[in-house]
Amino acid sequence: MKKIVINGGKPLSGTIGISGAKNSAVAIIPASILCDENVKVYNVPNISDRDALIDILNLLNCETMVKDDMLSIDTSNVINKKIPLELSKKMRASYYFMGALLSKFKHVEMFFPGGCNIGKRPIDIHIKGFEALGAKVTINGDLYTIDAEELVGTKITLDFASVGATINIMLAAVKAKGKTIIKNAAREAEIVNIATYLNNMGARITGAGTSEIHIEGVDYLHKAMIEVIPDRIEASTYIILGAMIGDNLKIDNIIPDHINALLSKLDDMNIKYELNENNIIISKCENIKPTNIKTAVFPGFPTDIAQPMMVLLTQANGVSMYEETIWESRMGHVKYLNKLGANIKNGNTNAVVIGSTPLHGCEVEATDLRGGAAMVLAGLIADGTTKIISIEHILRGYDNIIEKLKNVGADIDLIEE
Ligand code: EPZ
Repeated sequence: MKKIVINGGKPLSGTIGISGAKNSAVAIIPASILCDENVKVYNVPNISDRDALIDILNLLNCETMVKDDMLSIDTSNVINKKIPLELSKKMRASYYFMGALLSKFKHVEMFFPGGCNIGKRPIDIHIKGFEALGAKVTINGDLYTIDAEELVGTKITLDFASVGATINIMLAAVKAKGKTIIKNAAREAEIVNIATYLNNMGARITGAGTSEIHIEGVDYLHKAMIEVIPDRIEASTYIILGAMIGDNLKIDNIIPDHINALLSKLDDMNIKYELNENNIIISKCENIKPTNIKTAVFPGFPTDIAQPMMVLLTQANGVSMYEETIWESRMGHVKYLNKLGANIKNGNTNAVVIGSTPLHGCEVEATDLRGGAAMVLAGLIADGTTKIISIEHILRGYDNIIEKLKNVGADIDLIEE
């Protein structure tokens, strides 16, 4: 079994370079099959979700090549195939093949996707969008069969500004007849990145990044390139770490506008940093003030950094309140933070964090991707040795996390036991 072992308490200095955004890359890769020629995607993070999506591309007869952070995909011989259970279930983002295959072949057969266990995660909003475009969706247990004679643009108002549904409907609509308008669309930075990619192929999408996206259908999508934006969640994770144990730790290759919600909380907490055009330099703060966190859709406080943020709250002097509004069960990490010495009382979606508490190394579990990142941060600030199990969750979403942390002075290793 793979484990991460950390001997905590070492100050971290030097530079951590941020990789391409996982949640952008995992949509850009499936979107590539819409192209009728070939594509090159740059700044792709080296994470296991990337490899699982490439396996699906290969199943669909695409030729793929990874060279450093570049992924080239030749889609000229792409075929339609049922995506088997084990590939569908490997991650959440496999569901982007629903929108992409529907758009390309008007027929999809795949299974309900996998991903972190942080709530029920239904895909009803995606399905309603496909149906509004003219598709017929048949659900048999976990098997989804989606067919359409033709897809016709229409106005779709999302029940909730879902990231996945916004992207999936955009993919399905890109070659539909006429105009599609998505109202109450999600506004996350990743959505702009994907729309830009599709437009680079010849799609006609406007309004991405606002709550109303307009898509004028086109017949043909040609060869294109795209660069994946820097991962705002990875950047935020390391910035939080810097506030607890950094010694002029530089987090490089960031887009400051994408992390405003975090920076504003750091301001509330008395945490100082030097913000530059594309990097931030941060050191350990000796007098962290408590604050309240309530997650929200973009540009609110991202749910995906709330778990790492909770580690920072354990180091604040006083009581912080924490409320999760996106997912109904994203508190798995609390049990292990308490095992490390934190004082957190929690329900399913809220918590009270009483700080500050020193943390002491012990064996903990990565219950999900960001909960796992929280364990890494906790282990790095704890005294003694922390062992983390179930680390496959972490490796799904953090590019070279061990090497990046070792390079700035952390005593961290991946071991096989
Ligand atoms: C994306 O998930 C991200 N995953 C998540 O990141 C992130 O937490 C989430 O967006 C919110 O920012 C990927 O991009 C692969 P949603 P997604 O659809 O698209 C409900 C991480 O750690 N909903 O915006 O699945 C849903 O249950 C991961 O990197 C429906 O009810 O999120 C949730 O309560 C975890 N019906 C809310 O909407 C639907 O059809 C937001 O979900 C779709 C969603």
